[in-house]
Amino acid sequence: MSGRGKLVVVTSNRHKFEELEKMADPRGVSLEFANLTKIEVQSSSIQEISRVGAVLAFSQLSKPLIVEDAGLFIESLRGFPGPYSSYVLRTLGIEGVLDLMRDRANRRAFFQSVVTYVDEERVVSFTGKVEGEIALSPKGGGGFGFDPIFIPKGSKLTFAEMDLLAKNLLSHRAIAFNRFLDFYLSTFP
Ligand code: IMP
Repeated sequence: MSGRGKLVVVTSNRHKFEELEKMADPRGVSLEFANLTKIEVQSSSIQEISRVGAVLAFSQLSKPLIVEDAGLFIESLRGFPGPYSSYVLRTLGIEGVLDLMRDRANRRAFFQSVVTYVDEERVVSFTGKVEGEIALSPKGGGGFGFDPIFIPKGSKLTFAEMDLLAKNLLSHRAIAFNRFLDFYLSTFP
């Protein structure tokens, strides 16, 4: 039996929590959802947004926790919306992003994720990246955010056309979170 308690995940996004839980469960790590009124710093770096968010959350909760921050970076838009992805989703939406891409032959894009873990002794971050393309039109009813327009490399389907298990084999969040789990399980066996 390990002495690990539940690990708190600070997020307002239930979909993210479900994705993480599907990966944590089989590895024997139980997660607890915490929707703090998170203060999210504005920064051009998702690393910084993730780290500052995690440290601020720890100052409120004083429990080991993780914060994950992600962004979609579109090559022909020079990395836009990147760290502003949630703002752009709320304002322009998926259709607005497709409009910006209308005459662009280069559809290359990537998602990046940074998972930051904080406890009394350490602040550690793990990153994950998945390359792919922006679809010509939205497809699929699963997932969240930009999932209907993101086709990961090597696939013909958007993330929104996949089930959670398939998305978790490929996604930026899965890569970052599995790196975190390797660290967590070796630090707290
Ligand atoms: P945040 O990490 O919650 O700040 O996410 C930034 C924005 O990117 C949000 O609007 C999310 O909807 C979007 N996003 C983050 N991860 C994903 C994903 O796995 N699929 C689709 N959209 C995502």
